[in-house]
Amino acid sequence: MGQYSGDSHADEEVYDLICVGFGPASLAIAIATREMLPDGRQPNVLFLERQQQFVWHSGMLLPGSKMQISFIKDLATLRDPRSEFTFLNYLKEKDRLLDFINLGTFLPLREEYNDYMQWCASKFADVVSYGETVTLVEPVKSAAGTVNRFVVHSKVGGIEERRLARHVVVAVGGRPVLPKPLAVYHPRIVHSSQYSSRVPQALANPDAAYRIAVIGAGQSAAEVFSDVSSRYPSASTTLFIRGDALKPSDDSPFVNEIFNPSATDKFFQTSPEQRRQQLTENRATNYSVVRLELIERIYHDLYVQRLRDPSGATWKMSLQNHTQVTGLESSSSDKHVTLRMQRRDDGVDTVEDREFDLVIVATGYARDMHQELLAPTRELLQDSAPGAQFPIARDYSVQFADGKVSADAGIYLQGCNETTHGLSDTLLSVLAVRAGEVVDSIFNKQSSNGHSNGHSNGHSNGHSNGHASKVQLGSKKIDSVNGNGHNSAISNGYH
Ligand SMILES: Cc1cc2nc3c(=O)[nH]c(=O)nc-3n(C[C@H](O)[C@H](O)[C@H](O)COP(=O)(O)OP(=O)(O)OC[C@H]3O[C@@H](n4cnc5c(N)ncnc54)[C@H](O)[C@@H]3O)c2cc1C
Ligand SMILES: NC(=O)c1ccc[n+]([C@@H]2O[C@H](COP(=O)([O-])OP(=O)(O)OC[C@H]3O[C@@H](n4cnc5c(N)ncnc54)[C@H](OP(=O)(O)O)[C@@H]3O)[C@@H](O)[C@H]2O)c1
Repeated sequence: MGQYSGDSHADEEVYDLICVGFGPASLAIAIATREMLPDGRQPNVLFLERQQQFVWHSGMLLPGSKMQISFIKDLATLRDPRSEFTFLNYLKEKDRLLDFINLGTFLPLREEYNDYMQWCASKFADVVSYGETVTLVEPVKSAAGTVNRFVVHSKVGGIEERRLARHVVVAVGGRPVLPKPLAVYHPRIVHSSQYSSRVPQALANPDAAYRIAVIGAGQSAAEVFSDVSSRYPSASTTLFIRGDALKPSDDSPFVNEIFNPSATDKFFQTSPEQRRQQLTENRATNYSVVRLELIERIYHDLYVQRLRDPSGATWKMSLQNHTQVTGLESSSSDKHVTLRMQRRDDGVDTVEDREFDLVIVATGYARDMHQELLAPTRELLQDSAPGAQFPIARDYSVQFADGKVSADAGIYLQGCNETTHGLSDTLLSVLAVRAGEVVDSIFNKQSSNGHSNGHSNGHSNGHSNGHASKVQLGSKKIDSVNGNGHNSAISNGYH
């Protein structure tokens, strides 16, 4: 239990809610908090984000890459189509509504959707602290012996901060995953999540005849393969996949109903075994699949090579299937990587070592960062064994053992509940509705317990350095070691 045990800190500021991470999930919560609660009942809320500004998967904002979801499933419409925060209102304010209609699409560029979310985020500048990485969430016991608040520990420019909150939402997204032989730091091995920032550093000359490997068969791998081939037209670029072929994502209408908000209820109510079956059955809506139009574009590019040079001698792009990376050779230098690759073709295995100037690993994400952040709260669970799942209720709250946490406090998880809430959980699909459910669960509970309303978070204060929240909301922020200098060297990407 944290060092704040007991009520010796009764005079310190206690936030009603601290959200860890300010990606789309938390942004939707910010919007719902502002829109759902009656005027005069603006709670004391703070969002902590490790990046220096709101940006949505910056390493993959590739030119021309499109959304994989209708813009109508934006951060507000499905909860309240009249919200000020709809994508359509964004277009209207940016004076592009009619031009967008003329595009005739439901799928904006990722670049535009990122701009939409930045536009939304800019309206919450006074309640977000950017450049701040949360490191741990600790429970605090009241004098009565139940946990009634949490200490949120964070680091900002190497300096530690601590704040108290009754509720904590953990919405930290995914952690890049690299397969075992490649899960080491090497300047020429890059996960797709860092593609845009690290590749230009590693390969400085766009005209050089580099040897580039891309690994994976999902949307990230396909987008990176296509993009890197056009950025480095003289390079030889090979896409290595384990399976037979690139497969299309299923976004057909009947299947797509699993992403309806109402499907979350159904999924949650089924048995764990049925849930597992459904996740497997519908996996091709999201994982290890590529949008058909991109598959067709890649096929077209490979075909044109064949047309122009039947011998294959000058081909720059290639796809090699049935191939796995089994090792990283010690001969690898800072400028090259030698991979041991195993290929199974017609039942025959061949192993070869191949040298590359760059390896881009597009092998997906794991959503388990909450386990580490919440480690001190594990002792409050019924099953507190290391590695046991944090049990989650339908309203996304962690189910602590009876009597351990008081009714007006709690922890909520977002984006890591696929096994209980379904495939939409990691996506944008239900964010508007889900944010409403979380806000309802936290603040209606609070009001029924007579807690915390009437706080003002004064949205009018236009601070731009992300620290306004502390001035605005954290008037008695605990143990503030540092009130400025948050812009120094903090990781603003993954890791
Ligand atoms: C390239 C790419 C494109 C995608 N496109 C789509 C799409 O078109 N449609 C769709 O439905 N889904 C898409 N997805 C899925 C994606 O998960 C969701 O779009 C969305 O990003 C989920 O939002 P989130 O807030 O849960 O997570 P994230 O967007 O990952 O946001 C989490 C935030 O938490 C911050 N953070 C992490 N750890 C800490 C910490 N310790 N302290 C403070 N801050 C922290 C991160 O910096 C980040 O800003 C895409 C995913 C990728 C990788
Ligand atoms: N424009 C967009 O909207 C966009 C762009 C990119 C990503 N996304 C989204 O981001 C999410 C993640 O997509 P993603 O493509 O990053 O990940 P993903 O769908 O999980 O795909 C990971 C790929 O890595 C491969 N892989 C895993 N381990 C491997 C290993 N040891 N060796 C070789 N290959 C291995 C998998 O191979 P197998 O197929 O053999 O299992 C799979 O093809 C999805 O929701 C996706 O829709 C969206």
